[in-house]
Amino acid sequence: MWKGRFAQQTADLVQQIGESISFDWRLYRHDIRGSIAHARAQLTAGLLTQEEFEAIEKGLKEVEGRIERDEFEFSTELEDVHMNIESALTEAIGPAGAKLHTARSRNDQVATDTRLYCRAEIDILAAGIRDLQKALLAQAKTNADVILPAYTHLQRGQPVTVGHHLLAYVEMLERDHSRLLDCQKRLNLSPLGSGALAGSTINLDREAVAEELGFAGVTRNSMDAVSDRDYIAELIFAISLCGVHLSRLSEDLILWCSSEFGFVILSDAHTTGSSLMPQKKNPDVCELTRGKTGRLLGNLTSILVAIKGLPLTYNRDLQEDKEPLFDSIDTLKLTLAVNAEMIAAMQIRPERCRQAASDPMLLATDLADWLVLQGVPFRHAHELVGKAVAKAVESDTPLDQLDLAAVDPAFTASGKALRDDVPENPSEVFNLDRALAARTNPGAPSPVNVSAEVTRWEQRLA
Ligand code: ARG
Repeated sequence: MWKGRFAQQTADLVQQIGESISFDWRLYRHDIRGSIAHARAQLTAGLLTQEEFEAIEKGLKEVEGRIERDEFEFSTELEDVHMNIESALTEAIGPAGAKLHTARSRNDQVATDTRLYCRAEIDILAAGIRDLQKALLAQAKTNADVILPAYTHLQRGQPVTVGHHLLAYVEMLERDHSRLLDCQKRLNLSPLGSGALAGSTINLDREAVAEELGFAGVTRNSMDAVSDRDYIAELIFAISLCGVHLSRLSEDLILWCSSEFGFVILSDAHTTGSSLMPQKKNPDVCELTRGKTGRLLGNLTSILVAIKGLPLTYNRDLQEDKEPLFDSIDTLKLTLAVNAEMIAAMQIRPERCRQAASDPMLLATDLADWLVLQGVPFRHAHELVGKAVAKAVESDTPLDQLDLAAVDPAFTASGKALRDDVPENPSEVFNLDRALAARTNPGAPSPVNVSAEVTRWEQRLA
């Protein structure tokens, strides 16, 4: 393509380090779409005759068909997807093909292709997130009032419901979904017409090209447009954070399906066995999801480092944007899909969950709240309950069976309770169902709240 200036062939190793066709071939559909729009603008500008335009359009669609049918042979000598397609076109239709690159550079071309590619892939990723949210929601609905302990520091903290726990992930995924759409909205501008870096002396109708390609408008600075890869970094970040969320979900499930927790049974179809230990049933999907998150974070580092030292405008380093981008997209698509399937098929074990939450210690805070409602300041109440807990531990007595009044007279009803629904007897706070039902503030896990959230999500995700 640049033979005029050069007396020697490109060295083999230079071809090897420089080719991108082995991975950027997947931009072909967008490359062709962009070229047709560009050719149409050339036709409007009087640079192509109607016949030439039609030959280009038909020729490009034929190339697309050949690629789709796996009949197209990509050549490394032609470096990338742009030159492979242009060269096949010229071979097929002759001189008109050689006119296509007027007022265009591979710099604005590749930026256009990757924006179109990202835009399309975001739709698929967003749908994948929706499917996983729906799987989580269905389990949250089935297990809306199954009580289990919630943990801080991986120590049992307070009782919640499985529904509430799973809906926490639905919330995280909702933010991931909105981040993807936000990124999609921001990237949806056409760089085509920015040329190599300074536009062209031959002005084509950029707005018309943008409209044909479904862009919301055109980029406003040619130098920025050919060197900008922010949208790739943003997309990889949005993917990485979603991956981090899936990794945390994986960690919960890995704990939950262990014998120690026993809160869930993963299906045989979504677990693997051991080649040595016949009894094993391993949560490999969760572990691989957690493991693949490392790749996503590596890809995020790669793109940010590739960009950080570059002067304006296009530098060949930018070709390194594609492999991390493609890998992150592929990885998230697969992990979303397999997790949706696995979660739909898993079985919560309500009796094990409730058993784990049945330690009255989990309601020590509720006991302090009872004191507060009798008029005891919270800091003091905390200390008194702390004493009761120490006594329970020391005497190996469950907290709900301890003689609380013997620990401190404050544990006797004051007769001046701040509300009239406060039970006379402090040991009534140890009723798990009552304790959960009392947590009715917005965002808290009472079964009434959780089922209202389930309904809200069902409407939202419908
Ligand atoms: N394959 C190149 C890339 O992905 C296309 C742009 C090449 N531009 C250039 N000036 N060599 O970045």
